[in-house]
Amino acid sequence: MDFGKIQRLTAEEFAKFSKLVYDESGIFMKEAKITLLSNRLRKRLSELKIETFSEYYEYINNLKDKHVEIEALLDVVSTNETYFFRNERHFEALSKKCFQDIAERKKDRKLRIWSAGCSTGEEPYTISICVNEQMSLFKGWDIEILATDIAYSVMEFAKIGRYSGRRIEKVPPDLLKKYFKQVPGVDDVLEITDDVRKLVKFKPLNLFKDSFPADVDIIFCRNVMIYFDKEHQKLLVSNFYKSINKSDGYFFIGHSETLHSVSDDFIYVKILDAPIYIPKERKNEFSNR
Ligand SMILES: C[S@@+](CC[C@H](N)C(=O)[O-])C[C@H]1O[C@@H](n2cnc3c(N)ncnc32)[C@H](O)[C@@H]1O
Repeated sequence: MDFGKIQRLTAEEFAKFSKLVYDESGIFMKEAKITLLSNRLRKRLSELKIETFSEYYEYINNLKDKHVEIEALLDVVSTNETYFFRNERHFEALSKKCFQDIAERKKDRKLRIWSAGCSTGEEPYTISICVNEQMSLFKGWDIEILATDIAYSVMEFAKIGRYSGRRIEKVPPDLLKKYFKQVPGVDDVLEITDDVRKLVKFKPLNLFKDSFPADVDIIFCRNVMIYFDKEHQKLLVSNFYKSINKSDGYFFIGHSETLHSVSDDFIYVKILDAPIYIPKERKNEFSNR
C-alpha cells in the first residue's frame, strides 16, 4: 500500500478527528485545516499500516486503553516549529532585567523557570544559556528549568540536544562557540554543552489534563495558546496564575498572542522593549518606573 495515496479526510471524518484532538489537547482546528490534518494523520496510518481514516478512528475507539494511541495521535497532530533565540528581545529582557530583579528579591535562593510547550527543546536551552551567562547572580542557587510538552517524540529529540541549520541560526556567534560543541563524525550538527543541559529537566505534561508545578518564578508559554480557543486560553492562563509566584513572577507569551480578553490576572508591561506579563499584584512596581 502506498500510504501517500490515502485521500483527504471527508468532512465527517474531519469533524470526528478534530473533536477528538480538541477534547484531548485543547487544540482547535478550523475546517480550513482539513488538508493539514489529513497529511499529519496519514503519517500515523502509515506507521500502523491502516488504510483509511475511518478504520483508524474505529481502531482508536476499540482500544481498551486509548491513552497510548491518543498520545501518538497528538504527537503527529501538534505543530512543533521552534528555534533558538526565537523573539530575541524576550531573552534580552530576561537576561538584563528579570534575572537581576529575581536575584535581588528571592531570599530562598531558588530559581524556578517553566517552558510550557517546549517542543524540541530550543526554548528551554536558550533560557539555560541565558542563565549560564548570568550565573554570577545565582552562585549557590538551586536552579531548575522545567521543560514540558504533550508530544513525546519532540521531547526525545530535545533530550539528545543536537541541532543544526535554521534551529541554531539565531544563536549569537560568541554563544554558539561557548555553549555548543562539535559532534565527532557528524558535520553541520552541534550539541549543547553539559552546562546548558544540566539545568533543564524534561517532562511530558498535557496543559489540560495534568497538574501544574507550584512556585514558578518565570513561565514561558510562547506560541502554544495560539492553537487553543478562548475558553481553553482562559482556563490555561488562570492555572498559570495559580502556579506563578505573585511577588516576582514573569510570564512570557508569543508575539502574536495576547491576554487581552483572556485574563485580568496579569498586566502587560514592556521591559527593554519586550512585551511581557506580570502578576497583577506587581502592578504598582511597574507603574512607578
Ligand atoms: C509551536 S510549538 C512552540 C515551541 C516554543 N514554545 C516556541 O515558542 O518556540 C507548540 C508546542 O505546544 C505543544 N502543545 C500543544 N498543545 C499542548 C497541550 N495541550 N499540552 C502541552 N503542550 C501542548 C505542542 O506539542 C508543541 O510542541
